[in-house]
Amino acid sequence: YSSAASDVYKRQRLICRQKTLFSAKLTSIDSRKTYHMATKSILVLHGPNLNLLGEREPQHYGKQTLEDIDQALKTIASAKSIKLETMQSNSEGDLVNKIQSLSNDKVDFLIINPAAYTHTSVAMRDALSAVKVPFIEVHLSNVYAREPFRHHSYFSDIAVAVISGLGADGYIAALNFAINA
Ligand code: DQA
Repeated sequence: YSSAASDVYKRQRLICRQKTLFSAKLTSIDSRKTYHMATKSILVLHGPNLNLLGEREPQHYGKQTLEDIDQALKTIASAKSIKLETMQSNSEGDLVNKIQSLSNDKVDFLIINPAAYTHTSVAMRDALSAVKVPFIEVHLSNVYAREPFRHHSYFSDIAVAVISGLGADGYIAALNFAINA
């Protein structure tokens, strides 16, 4: 190599390396974007006695089972590539633990029917305030058309919205809102 030829060769190698670095950067930015868009995550939490849906006081809660409701929600979510988890528990402590785990699990939105704990649970309210995940409170029945003790909720004033009295459609309305939120 003459020294001029060797300079040209070095310059070409440098340009080549810069191009590689630049395209690597673009790839990583793009893949981060795709990753973020694909992983909206929604949790649906059902409180005590909702495992009995279908047979429990159908005049208030309808004839659909909890499995029917969860299945309908999962079908809607998967058509929109949304990650959706559902959980039912009769135990206040388990529900508090699940709510506490939300920020680590990177859940974007919560749909919750706290059932009887709506009217009693300061512990679940405090957990929701601590994790700051936006949520919609859902009730199958219209709690305001029922006994006075059901008119007070420990959740409504910190919820994005409350849906009460639409039966299982209330969960679907909440999910459609959460998907677009
Ligand atoms: C409920 C209403 C609550 O008052 C009751 O304790 C429930 C279900 C509803 O979905 O209508 O268990 O949250």
